Amino acid sequence: MYSSQRWKTMAMAAVVVLQLWFSMEVESSSSHHPDHNITRLPGQPHVDFQHFSGYITVDDQKHKALFYYFVEAEINPASKPLVLWLNGGPGCSSLGVGAFSENGPFRPDGEVLVRNEYSWNREANMLYLETPVGVGFSYSKSSSSYVAVDDEATARDNLVFLQRWFNKFPQYKHRDLFLTGESYAGHYIPQLANLMVEINRKEKLFSLKGIALGNPVLEFSTDFNSRAEFFWSHGLISDSTYNMFTSVCNYSRYVSEYYRDSVSPSCSKVMSQVSRETSKFVDKYDVTLDVCISSVLSQSKVISPNQMTERIDVCVEDKIVNYLNRKDVQKALHARLVGVRRWDVCSNILDYQVLNLEIPTISLVGSLVKAGIPVLVYSGDQDSVIPLTGSRTLVYRLARELGLNTTVPYRVWFEGKQVGGWTQVYGNILSFATIRGASHEAPFSQPERSLRLFKSFLEGRPLPEVF
Ligand SMILES: *[C@@H]1O[C@H](CO)[C@@H](O)[C@H](O)[C@H]1NC(C)=O
Ligand SMILES: *[C@@H]1O[C@H](CO)[C@@H](O)[C@H](O)[C@H]1NC(C)=O
Ligand SMILES: *[C@@H]1O[C@H](CO)[C@@H](O)[C@H](O)[C@H]1NC(C)=O
Repeated sequence: MYSSQRWKTMAMAAVVVLQLWFSMEVESSSSHHPDHNITRLPGQPHVDFQHFSGYITVDDQKHKALFYYFVEAEINPASKPLVLWLNGGPGCSSLGVGAFSENGPFRPDGEVLVRNEYSWNREANMLYLETPVGVGFSYSKSSSSYVAVDDEATARDNLVFLQRWFNKFPQYKHRDLFLTGESYAGHYIPQLANLMVEINRKEKLFSLKGIALGNPVLEFSTDFNSRAEFFWSHGLISDSTYNMFTSVCNYSRYVSEYYRDSVSPSCSKVMSQVSRETSKFVDKYDVTLDVCISSVLSQSKVISPNQMTERIDVCVEDKIVNYLNRKDVQKALHARLVGVRRWDVCSNILDYQVLNLEIPTISLVGSLVKAGIPVLVYSGDQDSVIPLTGSRTLVYRLARELGLNTTVPYRVWFEGKQVGGWTQVYGNILSFATIRGASHEAPFSQPERSLRLFKSFLEGRPLPEVF
């Protein structure tokens, strides 16, 4: 099945892959695609910015095409940076989750779209990418492209996508570029950023100015094992279950066994008890939100395997699924369904190498910091799937390892007159922040605070100390 040795060869493989790219002719995709301009989406209110969507071919032989949605900044796009946003899963859609329920300009509501007042295109030109192939509207004409897809192939395709996308939008080629995303994008983004840094050493192709990662998977065991304490301290499990969840079978061990089809009796027993106490009527992506809203959050079904069988909820996700499956919407988006009957929030055809989960990417984050790329790790503080405590520990450890001293001591930050969360900065380059009251999908549940954090990140400034 999956090779557990795989990650050990990653570094070497990345070098090989890089050489391949250099010898590859980067063609302009414009000729394949008529016009990606979106005149108007069905039900869309009038707006003054432009948006675009369509396909960029990333592999000519295998006919792999990635679908993107690009929203120019609301005001003065020429003076604003370019920001790539990726959702995780692996296998979930940045269009459906990121653009239409988190930080994009519109949200579906029945037959119409309503404006999101806190859309990130107030601050930047936002590029949402459905990746890898098999996710959302992205496809390959060869179904073998959906088998055994891994982090390495995904990073390569994402890179080729950007190079070719720049051919179509040359005015953005030298624009300040930020990479952002959440959850499993804790793998995608550092891997993509490192490839860019490698390429830039030879020829400066990317004006990479920073990366931001929300509730990211950075180091399997630290991230996953912080769940027990989060459950316990939020009253979701009892003292005795907490003890078992930390001594008999911890969560990283369970996930590891689960994906190897070898769940031990002791882990099975512990997980049953944990599931019973936490209850399926509590949203693990936000332990304080009511459960209906969690439908959006199926994006992390892979990193939360015990929830995989849960029924899909109504509300936001349903509206998005309905909207994006309308023929008139697909036509307006220049999207088509290839090899699938419908658009899904998370792919049913992608067969991802889920054990790539165990590859630590925190060291890649360290390489980026060493290369001078500012990094922000932020956490919606009500998420139990990738809890803030694990991320905070990882950032702290990394800062110590890199010899970075604290430049902004742990303190609150403000949005409006209220505390938006806590933050700490190391060496003026590596930042950690929480977003108070936010879920795994922080911009979904705390849009205003998330936009504030995004603005500070783009400006390269610490979060507001006073109001
Ligand atoms: C895209 O379409 C809009 C609406 O029709 C139009 O105003 C705009 O000029 C078009 N942009 C491009 C680049 O063609
Ligand atoms: C989790 O369990 C594994 C396997 O039993 C063990 O190696 C690891 O140290 C444990 N981690 C924590 C944080 O308890
Ligand atoms: C960090 O702080 C220590 C102790 O104050 C100091 O010795 C060291 O030079 C500082 N490192 C940097 C990179 O500023």
